[in-house]
Amino acid sequence: MSDQWNIDVSQRIRRLPPYLFARLNKLKYDKRRQNVDIIDLGMGNPLDPAPDIVIEKLCEAAHDPRNHRYSVSSGLFNLRRDVSQLYERLYNVSLDPETEVIATIGSKEGFSHMCLALMGPGDTAVVGDPYFPIHVYSVALAGANVINVTLGNDEAFLERVSHVVEHLYPKPKLLILNYPHNPTAMTVDGVSFFEEVVDLARREGILVIHDFAYGRTCFDGYGAPSFLQARGAKDVGVEFITMSKPYNMAGWRLGFCLGNREMIRALATIKGYYDYGIFSPIQIAGIIAMRHCEPDVARQAELYASRRDVVVDALRRMDWQVESPRGSMFVWAKVAQKHLAGEGTIDLSLRLLDEAEVVVAPGRAFGENGEGFVRVALVENEQRLRQAVRQMDRALNKGIKAPSAKKAKSKGTQRPS
Ligand SMILES: Cc1ncc(COP(=O)(O)O)c(C=O)c1O
Repeated sequence: MSDQWNIDVSQRIRRLPPYLFARLNKLKYDKRRQNVDIIDLGMGNPLDPAPDIVIEKLCEAAHDPRNHRYSVSSGLFNLRRDVSQLYERLYNVSLDPETEVIATIGSKEGFSHMCLALMGPGDTAVVGDPYFPIHVYSVALAGANVINVTLGNDEAFLERVSHVVEHLYPKPKLLILNYPHNPTAMTVDGVSFFEEVVDLARREGILVIHDFAYGRTCFDGYGAPSFLQARGAKDVGVEFITMSKPYNMAGWRLGFCLGNREMIRALATIKGYYDYGIFSPIQIAGIIAMRHCEPDVARQAELYASRRDVVVDALRRMDWQVESPRGSMFVWAKVAQKHLAGEGTIDLSLRLLDEAEVVVAPGRAFGENGEGFVRVALVENEQRLRQAVRQMDRALNKGIKAPSAKKAKSKGTQRPS
């Protein structure tokens, strides 16, 4: 990335890894400008609406001029109290809303600033590979280093992490986890996994961040465990959650960090300097979501499960290797060799966009271990998903170009801008 700069930007920016979605995004943008009807399954950006009751509360609160003032950077107390009540209800975890809960401008902002609060030059974070890119970029932006450990089933992964933590000098400071995982949709069975994590963290004196963005996006009877359910978790780490996925409030920018009070105090300190808090009507509407929208959360998860079935089925028919996930809003699929035709997944994604008019995320953008895979975001309805895979199949198998330059038509779904 550094050679793109003519001005003297900071080292912080220069040491960011290359942004592997750049070419894909540019091509997508060019096609859209030509009115091509792109089916965009590239990003986990929900197309379904937030619950009506939440939108109504937002509008009502926005009419009150008192809510137009700067808010509180850590979040309104009532909001933090409702988050702690939600954790009590869902996970039987007690949290002090004053010291163990903080609101963030979506979990991405909170996560990034937490890395800045904890890490600096000379520090190291351990992150599984494949990874959600922010988990690596945030550490890089904080001036610290990342050690990637191959992700795998729980036991093997933790063994590899233990090995790295025991043998690396200086010792890593932070372990970053994410279950259900983006991009692989991997899940852990129960709290025992996190109990082992807590033991490891205690033994080795490291901190833990668990990104729980998809904690409520689970199906087939599976309920994802919270890291904070593990005994002693609050002594060593925090968990991030978001309103973006369960309530379809991605653009609203509302998330939370929960757990270790020292880590939360460090994040609150940084945020106190950087921001004045989330627009109060959004926070007030967030309270309504948490109090009244459990059925919406369940319905949304069911929607993802049905879409998953459609995509898993269709991709398997293309001879792609796919495990049916029980959480997250993604399908992580190993591309059939015959379709890769010697190219990497970044080139494959560009080809699919060009010839099938479908965007999928190339696995390589999620780390070296992502090569050979693509991630399909289940954001469109079943009909559009079927159409997308059909177009991919046609483009890859027969070399026949999918219909081009169709006028972008509204089909009952909006697309992210
Ligand atoms: C694993 C993971 N963490 C965090 C985020 C960011 O979510 P938010 O909208 O809360 O910033 C995403 C968004 O896709 C995600 O997949």
